[in-house]
Amino acid sequence: MKKSWIFAVFIVCFFVLMSNLTFSMTIPKNKAKEIADYVASMIIAGRGVVAQHQNLINDPNKGNKGFTPEYVEKKMLENFKKITGKDMSELDPEVQNVLKQVIAAAKMSVQMNQPRINKSGVGFKMYIPAVFGRETGQILKAKTDIAIKQTTFKFRNAYNQPDSFEKEILTKFENPNYPKGQGYGEFTNGRYRYLKPIYIRQACLKCHGEPKGAKDISGHKKEGYKIGDLRGAISVSIPVK
Ligand code: HEC
Repeated sequence: MKKSWIFAVFIVCFFVLMSNLTFSMTIPKNKAKEIADYVASMIIAGRGVVAQHQNLINDPNKGNKGFTPEYVEKKMLENFKKITGKDMSELDPEVQNVLKQVIAAAKMSVQMNQPRINKSGVGFKMYIPAVFGRETGQILKAKTDIAIKQTTFKFRNAYNQPDSFEKEILTKFENPNYPKGQGYGEFTNGRYRYLKPIYIRQACLKCHGEPKGAKDISGHKKEGYKIGDLRGAISVSIPVK
């Protein structure tokens, strides 16, 4: 498993370096909160697609799964509509431009993982929401300077470790008086930083639930969470003008 991880990271770096599409997307301050919230919703939508297709992805009896970048894009847009109540095409063009970059990064992650996803004879493939989200964030950051991270105090992957700003906001979210589900953002050092909390649902329990300390299918120790517990946040950081 370790070797394939290193390989995956290498592939991400390679694609990112090879694509000379790198450009900085700077957005106007007055649209920062709206854009950051939609970006977080789009990542949550994509994570949902990967979660909803775990049985297909992990089917050892099937080679080609049809879980293509184009298919994932279609399903992401459907989930996005369910989450936000909006069709992406109805949104302000400036918002749409950023969301298109998020989708492009997500599609690149799905594309890079086609060999893994379409491998027959293998069950659990570790192409899970967290891996999809981390790779999409890494690709997006390298291409646009917009950063997305899935962060939490109880991180499994060091990449997701909260920085001091994220720690401060996660602590706010942990307060039982904080309104559930509400995002929080601030302007700091030429950027808008925004966190949207995510909570434990039924589908998360088999890996993050109880008994605490027992190993899940990915070989990590379960955290012992219960439904409704704060798991962490989608952290979005956008350069503003
Ligand atoms: C199949 C097991 C599995 C399921 C189901 C699962 N996770 Fe995870 N989760 C993991 C693994 C493994 C990682 C570390 C991934 C990595 O290396 O980036 C992780 C990481 C995360 C992270 C990033 C922080 C960290 O720990 O590094 C978040 C946030 C997260 N999971 C939330 C969820 C939520 C919310 C659900 C339910 C909707 C869920 N997970 C379902 C296995 C799972």
